[in-house]
Amino acid sequence: MEAHFELPPSAWVQRWIGLIRPGGAVLDVACGSGRHARLLARLGFEVAAVDRDINLFSDPPPRVVLTSADLEQGPWPYPGEKFAAIVVTNYLHRPLLPTLIDALEPGGILVYETFALGNERFGKPSNPAFLLAPGELLEAVRGRLRVVAYEDLVVEEPKPAALQRLCARRERD
Ligand SMILES: C[S@@+](CC[C@H](N)C(=O)[O-])C[C@H]1O[C@@H](n2cnc3c(N)ncnc32)[C@H](O)[C@@H]1O
Repeated sequence: MEAHFELPPSAWVQRWIGLIRPGGAVLDVACGSGRHARLLARLGFEVAAVDRDINLFSDPPPRVVLTSADLEQGPWPYPGEKFAAIVVTNYLHRPLLPTLIDALEPGGILVYETFALGNERFGKPSNPAFLLAPGELLEAVRGRLRVVAYEDLVVEEPKPAALQRLCARRERD
């Protein structure tokens, strides 16, 4: 997938920040240039940010711990760690989804937004491997997380794209 260095923080991510436990640890998966990690750190969260190319994220602020890891070839870089929220945008590696769910603390939330089938009409990504099938994010969390909100839509801003978006919470034990 191409990187989107110039994008502002996602409106979907911003919408659900109020649900994250104040001061909690937040994980930004495939963080790229760190648009969400920076925002979350500014809001007082302790942020773990991971990407295979950490050079994309220049000058991470003090509240961000940036880790270089290949999430598709290497071991999970946060074994045993639990997060108050996990944010994933514009990235999809299906086998990682159960690991992300396991890494949520009770009450923790998963905020996910990425491209869906139909996006090929607008440009990249157009490879079905990187595009969610209808309902796929819902299926991925079924029985594990309680869905707060889900959308499957075409947006015009910040650029035309077919997206799925999910916010889901891990129930307290
Ligand atoms: C389209 S960018 C999205 C970046 C960021 N999440 C955002 O929305 O601004 C996709 C990111 O996934 C990262 N990535 C791709 N494959 C990866 C892998 N196997 N392990 C870790 N990061 C990966 C890329 O380096 C890139 O930063």
